[in-house]
Amino acid sequence: HKSNPQQLPLQGKKVIITAGGTRERLDPVRFIGNDSSGKMGYALAEAARDLGAEVILISAKTNLSAPTGIMLISVETAAQMSQAVQAQFKTAAIVIMAAAVSDYRPKQVAKEKIKKTAVTLTLELEKTPDILATLGQNKQQQYLIGFAAETQNIAEYAQGKLTAKKANMIVANDVSNRNAGFNVSTNKVTIFRPNQGPLDLPLADKHVIAREILAQAVEDLKLN
Ligand code: CTP
Ligand code: CA
Repeated sequence: HKSNPQQLPLQGKKVIITAGGTRERLDPVRFIGNDSSGKMGYALAEAARDLGAEVILISAKTNLSAPTGIMLISVETAAQMSQAVQAQFKTAAIVIMAAAVSDYRPKQVAKEKIKKTAVTLTLELEKTPDILATLGQNKQQQYLIGFAAETQNIAEYAQGKLTAKKANMIVANDVSNRNAGFNVSTNKVTIFRPNQGPLDLPLADKHVIAREILAQAVEDLKLN
């Protein structure tokens, strides 16, 4: 006689996760980027896969190798990331915006390498689309998780993002803490949700944090 295998909570569910820092081109050899390592997003992708989800990882360039058993879509810019997310959004159960999306991009992208002829050079930047806020406007069944990277007034800013972007969860981290946020393997986060008090998670490896974030989402979605 066989034992009845327990159904995993995210079996049959599509989970979209973005990761890494987007790059906004100035010219063919230069870009504006940020310090995101992609570790939190990749840890989330592995955790969602392990809960049975069909995982679509939409990633800007990182030094990490593709986790097995997930679909990896590589992008460079905020605009490309936005387009890739939109294309997968309709049938998603959960979308996690773990990417550090550039807020601004050069208004002009030079076709040729910019030469150092000028004594000073001023770059004109324009805003990129806010991917999470756009998803918040258009969401139906999707459970939306955003991150908030802050150096001060964490609770206030995180709550503000929760409301403004119509997210179901904002995971806030203090990027001025050297054991949390960009480029380290540990993180210390607080989870903010509508109609629930903040949930402080202890400093832990990003894989542990990822499992906890998904456990909370599964509970909110009543999938367990
Ligand atoms: N985000 C996004 N599209 C952008 C910028 C940010 O989808 N163009 C997402 C991030 O992936 C993250 C959340 O929005 O999940 C919050 O990002 P954060 O940089 O903390 O906040 P911003 O809204 O960009 O505001 P600010 O940088 O001024 O704090
Ligand atoms: Ca930002």
